[in-house]
Amino acid sequence: MVKVLFVCLGNICRSPMAEYVFKDLVNKEGFSNNFYIDSAGTSNEEEGNGIHYGTRKKLNEKNIEFDNHVARKLKKEDYNKFDFIIGMEDSNIRNINKIIGEDRENKVYRLLDFSDNPRDIADPWYTGNFDITYDDIYEGCIDFLEYLRKNYDLI
Ligand code: 4NP
Repeated sequence: MVKVLFVCLGNICRSPMAEYVFKDLVNKEGFSNNFYIDSAGTSNEEEGNGIHYGTRKKLNEKNIEFDNHVARKLKKEDYNKFDFIIGMEDSNIRNINKIIGEDRENKVYRLLDFSDNPRDIADPWYTGNFDITYDDIYEGCIDFLEYLRKNYDLI
């Protein structure tokens, strides 16, 4: 079982988008039994709130299922519960490290570091552009799954 936690700042836009895009990919590949997938934010600003309208709209547009996600803040204990803690941008990685302490087991990654073109995923909360966010997240999730396929016995 591979346990993956996607992390952004608020846990209402990017990390839930990554959670449901990745769940969808894994389901379509028939790997859902091999994964536990969740998301969290480094801030408590949106704690208790649902997914942002822009993310819901994009997931609906792409026919990707989602459920009653409730935003939560990343906890120190999450470090032991997950194998991969995947941030969206450098500032997330810094905030993740502040919460979990030292990444002794090399579990913390930036999503697009799995791609051929490593980069940050901009925050649509500020940019208002959920199309670019989706394209970046989709690319990252495809490349992350490919990485896992090469490095883990998924079937
Ligand atoms: P997210 O976007 O990190 O992609 O969920 C944000 C959502 C809310 C806030 C910041 C970023 N906020 O400051 O409330």
